[in-house]
Amino acid sequence: HDAVVSAVINVDVRGPLISRHLYGHFAEHLGRCIYGGFYVGEDSDLPNEGGIRLDVVEALRALNIPNLRWPGGCFADEYHWMDGIGPKADRPVMVNTHWGNVEENNHFGTHEFMALCELLGAEPYISGNVGSGTVKEMSDWVEYLTREGDSPMVRLRKANGREEPWRVPFWGLGNEAWGCGGNMTAQQYAAEARRFGTYSRDHGGNKLYRIAAGANSGDYAWTETLMKQLGDLGCAYRPAGYMQALSVHYYTIPGTWQDKGDATAFGTDDYYRTMVQAARVDELLTGHSNVMDCYDPGRNVGLVLDEWGTWWNVEPGTNPGFLYQQNTLRDALVAGLHFDVFHRHAGRLVMANIAQTVNVLQAMILTDPDSGALVLTPTYHVFEMNKGHHDAASLRVDLPSGAPARTVGSAELTTVSLSASRKDDRVLVSLSNLDAAEPADVVLDLRGGSVTGVRARILTAANLQDHNTPEAPAAVAPRAHEQVTPTSAGLRVHLPAHSFVTVEASLA
Ligand code: AHR
Repeated sequence: HDAVVSAVINVDVRGPLISRHLYGHFAEHLGRCIYGGFYVGEDSDLPNEGGIRLDVVEALRALNIPNLRWPGGCFADEYHWMDGIGPKADRPVMVNTHWGNVEENNHFGTHEFMALCELLGAEPYISGNVGSGTVKEMSDWVEYLTREGDSPMVRLRKANGREEPWRVPFWGLGNEAWGCGGNMTAQQYAAEARRFGTYSRDHGGNKLYRIAAGANSGDYAWTETLMKQLGDLGCAYRPAGYMQALSVHYYTIPGTWQDKGDATAFGTDDYYRTMVQAARVDELLTGHSNVMDCYDPGRNVGLVLDEWGTWWNVEPGTNPGFLYQQNTLRDALVAGLHFDVFHRHAGRLVMANIAQTVNVLQAMILTDPDSGALVLTPTYHVFEMNKGHHDAASLRVDLPSGAPARTVGSAELTTVSLSASRKDDRVLVSLSNLDAAEPADVVLDLRGGSVTGVRARILTAANLQDHNTPEAPAAVAPRAHEQVTPTSAGLRVHLPAHSFVTVEASLA
């Protein structure tokens, strides 16, 4: 008999809004994410606009991607934006020392990134260079991008073909300052961030949302230092404040940094270890939020998880510096679990960015370097199936004690995960059965509204290792889920082993 779990959801008690920015993305100059991924150059045979690959844009538009973080990552702190403007032939070549020691010709720069955001309908999130850049360099970049009227940077922008300023809402003050972004202590970084934050000005109507480079995983002391040193939100004299949010990075790595595990050749034990690591994101967001609550009980400073996702050993035969990995049903379940956690933290968590969108780490899209064939990954489908949560009100889900669980080493993994939201007269419930072998049934006891219609979809496959390839692009793809039955106790949803399901209920 399947495990039966009852979940109570009061559809008329709306919780914090789930910002669409929790479904944000990240594109670094790393491996084949930008070059050969998003950007193939104007001379490519592949359909492109200004070198930007149009089938990639089309696939991502279907996700309504809300924002795109660029140019890094570690690359951000060695990127000098002035090298990436003007005629391409004149742009200097640099070495991407972090990622494969390859040459970077700077053909994808500020104008190309902003054009990409326009094509995607996504808001730009630019990470400025604190580690090896200057305050003036960052200040000039903001001016170049966002100022109207006349100024040295405005004249330069216009000379490069762009009359109107762009709108740039999200501004990162460096990246991983504790590591690749300068190996600073929290104190040192806080002092730097105050200077860089001060001179990253609001020009005209463009209001920057400054995001300070935050902690590595569970480094709560880092968050505490930033809250003490930067957390004040400004005053009449200095209205912008130094930062409006701070970030944290957390990757799901069940192995060690030396041997992270294989993306496709894994066993059941590896799978459960992965899920335990993924579920840890809840503990980390809670820990950082608790620290922030001490200094900012009104929740004015946002928490941004601007790098998350699985990190496996690279695919055999690929450049170790390019972080190219396959993406299976297991990755999709990791994503589903993260989103449930994000929805529960919607009161503090204002943005999250999966690493990374194309051809790097837990990607949405993989492209073949030879044929150019494009494949949508299982993770892509979770983003698509969860689109209805964007800017919806979170709904609390109460599970009784005794939900199915597995003991994994010293950890207990609850194997049924769900979250819900409401927008107008529509409730969306996302459900995951993380058990590798056993099905489960969840009875959704929706209170406070009567259900007039139901549409359910499922993402699963015969094996956790299944993934999509150019030869079998839909091996793991969503389909209609018929096993949703109205009962006197609520909607009974059958969850096969290792499956992700969305149930959309229309209310009277
Ligand atoms: O996403 C890959 C790298 O992981 C990023 O460049 C860095 O910020 C993190 O360590």
